[in-house]
Amino acid sequence: MKNENSKIWLSSPHMGGKEMIYINEAFETNWIAPVGSNISGFEQDLENYFKEYHVCVLNSGSAALHLGLILLGIKSGDEVLVQTHTHIASVNPVLYLGATPIFIDSEKDTWNICPETLETAIQDRIEKGKKPKAIIAVELYGMPYKYDEIKAISEKYQILILEDSAEALGSTYKNQKCGTLGDISILSFNGNKIITTSGGGAIVSNNKEIKDKAIFLSTQARDAAPHYQHSEIGFNYRMSNISAGIGRGQMEVLEERILQRRNINQFYKDSFSGIDGVIVFSEPNEDFFSNHWLTVILIDSSKTGGKSREDLRLALEAENIESRPIWKPMHLQPVFQNYPYYGGSISETIFENGLCLPSGSNLSDIDKKRIKKVLQDFFEK
Ligand SMILES: Cc1ncc(COP(=O)(O)O)c(C=O)c1O
Repeated sequence: MKNENSKIWLSSPHMGGKEMIYINEAFETNWIAPVGSNISGFEQDLENYFKEYHVCVLNSGSAALHLGLILLGIKSGDEVLVQTHTHIASVNPVLYLGATPIFIDSEKDTWNICPETLETAIQDRIEKGKKPKAIIAVELYGMPYKYDEIKAISEKYQILILEDSAEALGSTYKNQKCGTLGDISILSFNGNKIITTSGGGAIVSNNKEIKDKAIFLSTQARDAAPHYQHSEIGFNYRMSNISAGIGRGQMEVLEERILQRRNINQFYKDSFSGIDGVIVFSEPNEDFFSNHWLTVILIDSSKTGGKSREDLRLALEAENIESRPIWKPMHLQPVFQNYPYYGGSISETIFENGLCLPSGSNLSDIDKKRIKKVLQDFFEK
C-alpha cells in the first residue's frame, strides 16, 4: 500500500489489468515455457502495431542487440560505430562478438548520434584502412535520432543501421514509428520501460527471413531433425510464454501509456516555467514525436545561484523521490577507455548537467504534488 512517504520511483511497472488473463491462460494450458500462444500472440500484437514489419520477441533488449549485430553480419575484428551517450547494453554486444566500438558524440538537438561527427569518423576510419560495418543509433529517453541525416550517411557509405529503440516504443519521426527506422531495430520491455514484460526485448525487421533467423538463433540454433542437431552456434534468448502474456496485456494500454508519459512531461514543463537555468529536454521541431519515456532536465548552475543537478537529486532523495543522472557517456567509462572516440564535449556536458525525473505513467496526483513541492522549495531557497 502507498502512503504519503512511499518511494516515488523513476519509472516503475504499470499494469493495465488484463495481464493476468493471459498469464492464467499459460498456466491453464501448461505452456510454462519459451513456447506458446502468448509468444505468437504478443508478436502478432506488435506486428499489428508496426504494420508490414516482422517481430521476434526475446528475453531482453540486450539479447536483441546481440542477435541484431549477428544478423547484420558483424564478426570479430569489425568496427562498429556507436553513439557514446547511451546505456551500456548498446555497446556490450559489440564486444561479445570481438568487434571494436568506435564512439561518436551527440548533437545538441536530440542528444543522439551527431551526423557530422559520424561522417568524420567514417572517413577517418576508412583512411586508417577499415570501413566500419554498422552504426548503432539510439533513441534516448524516447527522442528519435536525426533519421534523414543518419540514413543518408548510411546509404552514402553503405553501412547498415541497428536502431536501438529500447526507450522509444511509441515515438515517431515524420510519422514513422521508432522501431522501424533501422535496417534492423530492437525494443526493450525491461521493468522500467513504457510497457514491460518484466524483462524482455524484440527484434523488428521488414524482412520475414530476419525474424525466422532470430527465432532460430534464440532457441539454440537447432536444425530440423528429430534429435538435437546443430550446425551453428545459437543462444537461449527466446521470451517465455509467461512474460509474453504480460506483454499482451500491456499492448492493450500502450497508447494510453504514451499519452500519460507525455502528460508528465507537460507537468514538468509547467513546473519549471519561469525558472531560470532549467531546460526541459523537448523535441526540436514537429518532425520529432517523443514518447517522453523519461523527462530529463538540464540545470545550468551559473543561472541557479550555484544549485546543481546533484543538489536537486539529493533534495529529491531526501523526500524519498528517485531521480537519476543521465547516462554517462561510454567513452568516459573505465571499461571502454581504450576505444576510439570522435567528437567534442556535448555528451559530457549533458551528462554533467542532466537529471532524469520521475516519469512513470502511474505517478499519482499526490506523487506530483510531492515532487512539485521539492522543486519549488529547491529553486526558491
Ligand atoms: C538504450 C538502451 N538499450 C538497450 C537496453 C537494454 O535492454 P534490456 O534491459 O531489455 O536488456 C536498455 C536498457 O534497458 C537501454 O536503455
